[in-house]
Amino acid sequence: MEIFAHRGASGNFPENTIAAFKEAARLPVFGVEFDVHMAADGELVVIHDESIDRTSDGTGYVKDMSIADLKKHDFGSWFSPGFQGETIPTLSEVLDVFDSTNHKLNIELKSDIFPYEGMVEKVLDLIETRRMESRVIISSFDHAAIQFVKQLNPHIETAALFMEVLVHPLDYLHKIPANALHILFPAAIRPSMAEVIKSGMPIRTFTVNDETYAKTLKQTGIQAIFTDYPEKMNSLLSSNKN
Ligand code: G3P
Ligand code: MG
Repeated sequence: MEIFAHRGASGNFPENTIAAFKEAARLPVFGVEFDVHMAADGELVVIHDESIDRTSDGTGYVKDMSIADLKKHDFGSWFSPGFQGETIPTLSEVLDVFDSTNHKLNIELKSDIFPYEGMVEKVLDLIETRRMESRVIISSFDHAAIQFVKQLNPHIETAALFMEVLVHPLDYLHKIPANALHILFPAAIRPSMAEVIKSGMPIRTFTVNDETYAKTLKQTGIQAIFTDYPEKMNSLLSSNKN
């Protein structure tokens, strides 16, 4: 089963920071996942929440702040004093970390709350300029955004994100269309997933930090998990016995 480092190696490093991504880049795991928002001046930044309140020493919405304002804040100390000085990374800075590795890059577009006009075009421009099309999976809870990705560049792999238990998911996934299904753990082990697995469409499940759950998912035919502890999960799951 493939392993993605969720928000970088976010169990032991502050999520979505260069420190968390450098650790993920060092590990022999399949991929890394991270979340993208857009600042007031259009800069693409990597952070999970709409606001900087939880993961920095500041307050405010990303959409209302320029990259210069965002960069003034500390995104490491909330996690541990040893990470003081970590700043919010731009998408470009995160791609730099993985420039010379083989990791698959799952870019999650966080346009499901604020629409971030123009974000899809900017993300695709960056990926195409850097010739990283074959290395990325673009996912979102905003299914209109991934539909737009396909319209602009049909060669880029996309995934629809879900939290809910689904009924006849293939009909909907083909309608968007999306190449893969990314789904919350409990919904990933419901009977409706069988038709997706049988079709060969990848199912990737978040967020799985528990060994027993990971092994259940592997036996079910889930292709990949997102975990905050990629190193631990990689060693637990790499044995053929698991
Ligand atoms: O992309 C998988 C997972 O990250 C989706 O949920 O809230 O952790 O971004 P969230
Ligand atoms: Mg995410």
